[in-house]
Parts: sequence; structure tokens; C-alpha cells
Amino acid sequence: MNKLSVWLGLLFFIFILLIETMLFFFLYQGIISERIQSETGNLLARGTTHRNVLEKNFHESTIEHVALMETEAATDVVITDENYKVIQSSNKITEGMQELINNSKTISYTHHGILLEDRWKTEKYLATVSPIVVNKKIVGFVYMFLETVPIRNMIHQLTNQFLLIGVISIFITLITIFLLSKFIVSPLLEMKRVTEQLSKGNHEIKLNTKRDDELGDLARSIQLLSDNLHRLKKDRNEFLSSISHELKTPLTYLKGYADIARRPNITNEQRDEYLSIIKEEAENVVVLVNNLFELAKMDENQFTINKQPVRLKDLLEKIRQKFQPAFHEEKIDLKIICPPNISVSVDAVRFSQVISNLLDNALKHSPANTTVTVEVKQNKTGTTITISDEGEGIPEEDLPNIWDRLYRVEKSRSRSTGGSGIGLAIVKKIVESHGGEISIKSIVNKGTTFTIHLKDGGAI
Ligand SMILES: Nc1ncnc2c1ncn2[C@@H]1O[C@H](COP(=O)(O)OP(=O)(O)OP(=O)(O)O)[C@@H](O)[C@H]1O
Ligand SMILES: [Mg+2]
Repeated sequence: MNKLSVWLGLLFFIFILLIETMLFFFLYQGIISERIQSETGNLLARGTTHRNVLEKNFHESTIEHVALMETEAATDVVITDENYKVIQSSNKITEGMQELINNSKTISYTHHGILLEDRWKTEKYLATVSPIVVNKKIVGFVYMFLETVPIRNMIHQLTNQFLLIGVISIFITLITIFLLSKFIVSPLLEMKRVTEQLSKGNHEIKLNTKRDDELGDLARSIQLLSDNLHRLKKDRNEFLSSISHELKTPLTYLKGYADIARRPNITNEQRDEYLSIIKEEAENVVVLVNNLFELAKMDENQFTINKQPVRLKDLLEKIRQKFQPAFHEEKIDLKIICPPNISVSVDAVRFSQVISNLLDNALKHSPANTTVTVEVKQNKTGTTITISDEGEGIPEEDLPNIWDRLYRVEKSRSRSTGGSGIGLAIVKKIVESHGGEISIKSIVNKGTTFTIHLKDGGAI
């Protein structure tokens, strides 16, 4: 047996036993005292009735009549005169009866009658006495007796029944506790087993998550944890394999060009050209590694966002200045539509990085003689910035993965569009860490629109 179930069971058992014992005790005592009270009350009432009859007519025939009435009853009546001398009795007077009559001589009476003996456990009779008063003078006494043996038998029977019910209820309690602790403890043990499996790296776990209580909640949480862990592991492996693939290409270039540059029979110009390619590729690797490092920091929440009110128009103009030559070269028009008075609370450096990454993508994926538009709008819900191009677009099946790091639609790494697939992952992280949202809409050969929504923002 495991410890929790033992503790639970023991505690339950003690509590229930205590409650049951208390209940049984009070019930038992209640029934007995009620029974005895009713017997003695009846006895007294019967005695009083006889007495009333005799008070009205204290003659021999009435006395005989009263005695006769009691012969068939379980009770006995004894009628004495005022000196306690027996006149008539319904049955033979036993020693016990006589003793009680003798003992009653010293008692002071009330007309109502009194209880002479109520010790049903030890004495032979329950007894009452009622004085017969005629003309304000006591002329005799009516004694009533009830044997205690039947009462004792009845109570003995009752005790036996109580004991039987007690044993049965303890038995039922034990079964209930056993089932209950199994019901509570066995799912816990199952979860313990599963989490141990999890820590050993086995993710193929199945828990009963259908229960609609706290244990069901716990099971669902563990299942979710396991699924997430599994996904994380898969993501990490995929990420590591794509990163090694990503590094392999520039490193192959580097090695190849370094080999050629070392050849003795090439001209100085050729060597310079190869060396500058090596430099360019090395710079690409540095950028990739820096970006990955930055993303790792974002994942760990180690980077800080320094929010300050920024006039969007100024920020976008600065970015336009940076991008204008490149757009001009590709013969792509860059249009910025932004009301001059819109201000948002953002980290200017990080937010410029977002817009720059999106413009860089638009530039790389748009043909000549098209337009890239950055438009800022503000309404009650916040500020919306859209960056749309009329370029090649993204196939629908790629859209869900577009935010994954190292994900590129064009898998081959061409030198013209040659990004590493990290830009959008960074963009999403930055926007989200500003409390904003970013979404994408794209139609192949029609164009792509990125929409950033910031909750805050206001006119200056
Ligand atoms: N405006 C766009 N039009 C068409 N395709 C796009 C556009 N923006 C992104 N993409 C696709 O999404 C992929 C991922 O973009 P992301 O910015 O993350 O990486 P990248 O531009 O390839 O590399 P990096 O930004 O790290 O230099 C791109 O490779 C490209 O296929
Ligand atoms: Mg990019």
C-alpha cells in the first residue's frame, strides 16, 4: 500500500468512526430513555386512572373490578388501605412488590402520584404509587408494578441490533474508503509514473484527461506539458539541423574561395575579388550569428524594450532615407503615408528594426516598376501600420510557417535574395514584446501585406 492512500484512508476511517460512534451513542441513549419514560409514564397514568375510579367509588366491588382489569395486562395493581395493608391485588404479591410497598411508607405523596422505582437495569419492577383521597383524607393507595425483565430483554435486543448495524456500517465505511482512496490515489500514481517516464524522455504518454475535477485538470496539464516538451524537442532538433545547414553554405563558399585565393597562378585583382567575396560571406555569417543570438536573448526575455513616445512620421522618414537608394536601384517606388501627428510608445531602435526587416523583404521580393507602401492609420483601438508590396507573394501553405526562424519559402539560397529566414521571427518577437500583433496576407504574384497593430498610440 502506498503512503498517501494509507494516510487518507486512516484519517477518513477515524473521522467516520468518531461520527458514527457519536451518532449511535446518542441514538441508542435517546431510544432507551424515551422508552423507559414512556413505560413509567404509562404506568403512572394507569395508576392515576384506577385511583380516580376508586376515589369516586371506594367500595369492595370497585376495588375487585380494578384488580380484575389488571389481571390480563402486563402490569400489576395492588390496592392497600391507608396503613399500607393490602386490600386487593391483580396477581400474587411477590417479595419484591412487598418490599417496594414497605419502602414507600416513608415517602411523602402528592395527589398526582409518584414514581417509586425506575431502576430498570437492576430492580425487578418499575413501580408507581397514587394515593386515594376521599374527603381530603387518604384512604388507601394504588400501587402499579411493571416487570423489568421484558424491558431488559427488549433493550438487549436493541443493543444487539445496534451492534450489528455498527459492524455493517464500519464494513461499508472500510469499503468506501478503499474505493475512494483508489479513486483518488491511483490516478495520482499514474501521473507520477507518467512524469517519471517524461523525465526519462518518453513522450508517448496517455493520461485519462476525461475526468471533470481537479485530478482531471492535473492530468490535462501534465499531458499538455508532455506535448509541449515533445514539440520543443522537435523544434530544437529541426532548428539545429537547419542552422548547421545554414552555416554549411557560407562556410563552403569561404573554404572554396580561400582555396582559390591561395593558388599561386592568379592575378592580384582576382585574389582581391575572391578575398572580398570571402569577407562578404564572413559578414553574412556574423549577421546570422548575431541575429540568432538576439533571438535567443528574446526567447529568454533577456532583452529590454525601452518604450518612449515616438513620432511615427519622423521614424519612417529616417528609414526611407536609408532605403531610398536601394529602392531606386531596383526601380521600386517607396511610398509612405503617415499623418504627421501620430505618436506611439515604442522602442525606437527595435521598432526601426521591424520596419527595416519588412521593407528589406518587400524590396527583395518585388519586381521593378512596382510600389511598396507603408501606411499608418489610427483609430480608437490603436495604431495600425501596413507594409504592402506588389511582389511575388507567398504561397498559402507557407504562410503558417513564415514566422519560424530559418524558414524560407525559396529553399535554395540564392545570392540575390539570400536571407537566412530569421528576419520575420525577430519582427514578430519585437512586435509582441511591445504588446502588439502582426499578421500577414499574401497572394502569389499579387503581393504581400504585413499589418502591425499597436494597442496604444495617440495624436500629439
Ligand atoms: N514581402 C514578401 N514577399 C514575398 N515573400 C516574402 C516576403 N517577406 C518574406 N517573404 C518570405 O518569407 C521568408 C522569410 O522571411 P524572413 O524575413 O524571415 O527571412 P529572409 O528575408 O529570407 O532572411 P533575413 O530576413 O533573415 O535576412 C523569406 O525567405 C521569403 O521567402
Ligand atoms: Mg527578411
